[in-house]
Amino acid sequence: MDYRAMSTVGNIVLTGATGVLGGRLLQEVLCATDAQVYCVVRAENPDAARRRIEDVLFCYDEQQTLKDETWRIVPVLGDVSQPRLGLSEDSYDELVGSIDLVLHCAANVSLVASYNKIAPVNVGGVANMVEFCLQGKIPLLFTSSFSMVGDKLYHDGFVLKECDLDVGQGFEDMDYERSKFEAERLIHAAGQRGLDWVIVRPGNIWGDSVTGCYPLKQTKVKGIYYEMLKSLVETGMTFPSNEDFDISPVDYVAKAALNAVMNLHVTNRRTFNLTQPNPITYDDIVAAVRGHGYTVREEPTQRYFEAVQEGRLMRGGKPYRSTFTDLMSVFYDGSDYKEHARYDTTEITALLADTGIRCAASDQTLLSRYLDYAVKVGFLPPPSAQRPLAEISDTAMGGGYMESLYDANLSETAQPA
Ligand SMILES: NC(=O)c1ccc[n+]([C@@H]2O[C@H](COP(=O)([O-])OP(=O)(O)OC[C@H]3O[C@@H](n4cnc5c(N)ncnc54)[C@H](OP(=O)(O)O)[C@@H]3O)[C@@H](O)[C@H]2O)c1
Repeated sequence: MDYRAMSTVGNIVLTGATGVLGGRLLQEVLCATDAQVYCVVRAENPDAARRRIEDVLFCYDEQQTLKDETWRIVPVLGDVSQPRLGLSEDSYDELVGSIDLVLHCAANVSLVASYNKIAPVNVGGVANMVEFCLQGKIPLLFTSSFSMVGDKLYHDGFVLKECDLDVGQGFEDMDYERSKFEAERLIHAAGQRGLDWVIVRPGNIWGDSVTGCYPLKQTKVKGIYYEMLKSLVETGMTFPSNEDFDISPVDYVAKAALNAVMNLHVTNRRTFNLTQPNPITYDDIVAAVRGHGYTVREEPTQRYFEAVQEGRLMRGGKPYRSTFTDLMSVFYDGSDYKEHARYDTTEITALLADTGIRCAASDQTLLSRYLDYAVKVGFLPPPSAQRPLAEISDTAMGGGYMESLYDANLSETAQPA
């Protein structure tokens, strides 16, 4: 195939269309191509699948400008972790035979789930998509993550180049990171068997930089960053941290990823870091939340985390827990490790030079857009209704939930009181 003709691509398989990135990628594909998009979705029936796909699509496309294009969406009831994606042999072969490009976004993105739970989707699912692509000689876009950097994250001065893969990283802390690294390795190996591929590594995916939209209500895992905003607003309390904090707007990630795979004649078998070129710090995010009108008081780090872990962070007379405080508690061990790795974006910047596609700066304007959207959809109260705030009590009221978190689905953990 002459990949310079990719903008006229006929049929695309998209996985993860009911998720944060896949939904925005679907919007981009419908806007930028004439393709039919076969969305592999776990659902009871095609109608339910279509409803879930359109729910996320129209979260991003609020004006429903793509309403007349939805006929190009073809729900395929499947599961990427199953052999042949859970399809019958005939359906599988028919699908393989009619597809020109695969965009693979489906994953288990839980940062606390164990390897046994994650690997069937994040590694096994990639292996299944690789076989699909090899059988049909179809190019594959794989969505990895900047977290494949593993524990190099904490090495001050370490820079992950886009061509890097095995940089001696370890994965003691998080099986999700390991799964993304292993999936990348698997794809490189499949290149030896003739697979044409592009890997993209997004940073922390936040909402659309133009509209602020983010599927807070439509996706199962709301996104730890929005949970962070929620905890900041609900408790009005935080801890100091000058750790780097990546904000990669979903529109940038979707556009850059699609552009990369649509230019396969120059991008084949290359990897691109789709991270924020100028990361800010956690403290900067807190400052932006304050700048938007919310009260956020700072407590010493140890005092804050001990209070959370011991159930002494009280709000409205009850111990406060949220996905964010649960997750932070799991990772807080009193050590002084800081996330300071950097991600080189030279190659993606060069690729996008003439396209007008840019990663929006993570400044007050962008964060205010995200906060306004979260208020608009009822995820956060407006600054004027930020009550009650949390207090730290001297008396322990609860806790003991740490072990249960390790195999938890984040969406199933307790929501803020
Ligand atoms: N979010 C981030 O900040 C971030 C950062 C870096 C990289 N990434 C990567 O970007 C990709 C998309 O992430 P996301 O944030 O969009 O995640 P998400 O919102 O949790 O969406 C995950 C998608 O995968 C689907 N899925 C999960 N298991 C599946 C299975 N066995 N078969 C078929 N579909 C399955 C989910 O379907 P259901 O709706 O049915 O569950 C959902 O559509 C992932 O590869 C992730 O690792 C994300």
